[in-house]
Amino acid sequence: VIHGKELVEPIVIKLGGSVITIKEKPYTVNHDAIKRLSKIIFTNYSAGKRLVLVHGGGSFGHTAVSEISQRKGILDVIDVAFVQYKMLELATIITKAFIDEGIPVTLYPGHVLCRKSADCNFELLYEDLENGLVPMTYGDIVYGDRGYAIISGDDLAFWISSALGARKIYFVTSKPGVLDKEGQIIRRVTNIDQVSDLGIKGYDVTGGMKKKVHAALEYSSNHDVEIRILDIDGLEKVLGGGEAGSIIVDSQKRLVNRGRRK
Ligand code: IPE
Repeated sequence: VIHGKELVEPIVIKLGGSVITIKEKPYTVNHDAIKRLSKIIFTNYSAGKRLVLVHGGGSFGHTAVSEISQRKGILDVIDVAFVQYKMLELATIITKAFIDEGIPVTLYPGHVLCRKSADCNFELLYEDLENGLVPMTYGDIVYGDRGYAIISGDDLAFWISSALGARKIYFVTSKPGVLDKEGQIIRRVTNIDQVSDLGIKGYDVTGGMKKKVHAALEYSSNHDVEIRILDIDGLEKVLGGGEAGSIIVDSQKRLVNRGRRK
């Protein structure tokens, strides 16, 4: 935790690219979804919750990266600049919608916070939270001495949670949770074998549901945190104190915590 101070524990919310954009249409925003999210986020911000937002690339970032790689094989500096620009474009549309709703969003491009994977500085987000702002960043692309690297929004959500000591991380997806083969929500995912990857999409350059769950299990194994995968309805319920979505918790860790709690 930065400074070792105890801030009102922030909740980190990752807004999946498949929620905020229309997957099938390149560079198309899902305005209805963004509007609904803005109302939910505003309500909870107003109620005193401290929120950090991360959004994905959807039909902006993923389309740009896969189109260019198919055409040229490798992304050059101009392509990286273009992908960064498309992500910034998406981010400013979301920022505007959130500010219009009354949420004091302060935007940080992912490539400004992180120079390469896992080489990040989240100090500014912490200061914003202290001052009542709602910092937001997003999955992005960076160029370094080893070429380009994609920084996934999911990874950002975990790194930020770790740096700021968040106890809750909510992944908002187009699905109401992690689904079993019958399409039912698995309420508690404790093992990667519970997840079949029917949901994986060809255009997704950072991985599908299985990768998300895998990362969540790993993070939960050494952090005291509630991780959920849910949809917009689920987010509204859970932030309101209700129950929704799938909780992802490493089975080993549950035993450790049980022993410690009393
Ligand atoms: C991807 O971010 C960013 C780029 C492709 C540049 P994410 O991996 O977080 O996006 P979604 O949520 O899967 O769309």
